[in-house]
Amino acid sequence: MSKTATLEIDGKKYDFPLITGTENEVAIDISNLRAATEGVITLDSGFKNTGSCESAITFLDGEKGILRYRGYAIEELAQKVDFLEVAYLLIFGELPTKEQNDKFHDDIRAQSVVDEDVKKILEAFPKTAHPMGIISSLTSALTAFNPSVVNVESDVDMYNSVVKILGKMPVLVAWTMRKKQGLPLDYGDDSIGYVENILKMMFKKPNAEYKQNQIFIDALDKLLILHADHEQNCSTSTVRIVGSAHAGLFASISAGISALWGPLHGGANQAVLEMLQAIEADGGDTKKYMAKAKDKNDPFRLMGFGHRVYKNFDPRAKIIKQAADQVLNDLGIEDPILDIAKSLEKEALEDPYFVERKLYPNVDFYSGIIYRAMGIPTEMFTVMFAIGRLPGWIAQYREMRLRKEPIGRPRQLYTGATLRPFVEVDKR
Ligand code: CMC
Repeated sequence: MSKTATLEIDGKKYDFPLITGTENEVAIDISNLRAATEGVITLDSGFKNTGSCESAITFLDGEKGILRYRGYAIEELAQKVDFLEVAYLLIFGELPTKEQNDKFHDDIRAQSVVDEDVKKILEAFPKTAHPMGIISSLTSALTAFNPSVVNVESDVDMYNSVVKILGKMPVLVAWTMRKKQGLPLDYGDDSIGYVENILKMMFKKPNAEYKQNQIFIDALDKLLILHADHEQNCSTSTVRIVGSAHAGLFASISAGISALWGPLHGGANQAVLEMLQAIEADGGDTKKYMAKAKDKNDPFRLMGFGHRVYKNFDPRAKIIKQAADQVLNDLGIEDPILDIAKSLEKEALEDPYFVERKLYPNVDFYSGIIYRAMGIPTEMFTVMFAIGRLPGWIAQYREMRLRKEPIGRPRQLYTGATLRPFVEVDKR
């Protein structure tokens, strides 16, 4: 017998079905609530208790610190496959065979060219523009250069759009960074791996041969995998809701990039590094900043700490902390910023304020340290996150459209003025 939840309003009872997911999570299906109760809605600011969809892409258990893509543990994926295989897995549901993987990469390579006119748009941005604003605009501009509407029900159409955006995004990212640095806008090398090519496109000097660094390739590959999807986070929900109006894939992703930019979301990786640098410049007194973070009259938050869903530990942060240690070790870099990060982490993990609120380091706490070691400018950190999150956004867009989800349109509880008489301008 199927289970129900009973709600009682003014002595009248209403039954709602309980739905159980494959990991035994339970949801109350309230899709009939308003009709059954004649107008009652639920209110859940920030969607802390509200599922916006059913999804078969990513499983996350915040209490146990579990993250899986399509059933595979993130720890195993980070060890055993590369970013493009993860992208394929997320978008199409299964790990690719060798042939599928080779074809996927070849097709992406074939699409890794951007219309020359895109450079004119890039030229128009001031040097001071933040790279996330530029990337969001350029992703949206791609729609103008690739106007075909994606028919999500056509596997061929969808596949073509996927390889297009995966091919062009790294070019846009590299050009954005190079433009800010006054370097010529060029292409990478289609004979090398996807992640290697990202690094080459970003760092190749016009007058010197680019030498690959395996430590950087491995670290970036891992970071991109760890960022590739995170179920219904702010930017992904944005992509799904924009796409639910049947806006195109690129336009929806552009909106997702804007959401990711926020410092409470992906922008935290830039904010973390700036915070660590500020603490260092201020004499390295971590206790002072711990006190600020706990002071309710001070807007300062310990960036890179806390998570809406993880209330035990962020499994991505565990892997990244190790990777940061290893990268700095392998490169023989002694970074005082890493020491400050470790002190802050230690103090926070022992501090009742952070313990009671279940605030742990999140994925962004250590990622910036790796990006910094690679020579990536701080302003580009969130852009690197966006490259990583791209497969997740695409997978979620595709799933939402294939499930024929209705347009996203939340309700509200109106708390403004009730009807009042109009006042003429001379009487206001
Ligand atoms: N420093 C100090 N106090 C904090 C922090 C922090 N980083 N995060 C949460 N708190 C406190 C908050 O003040 C509140 O205290 P109280 O109950 O006394 O009012 C309590 O903890 C709960 O916080 P919340 O804001 O209600 O929690 P939330 O689930 O709405 O917010 C968060 C989650 C990630 C936005 C928040 O923890 C935060 O702002 N962290 C810093 C920014 C950050 O690192 N973001 C990256 C998230 S991971 C990357 C990604 O996937 O986007």
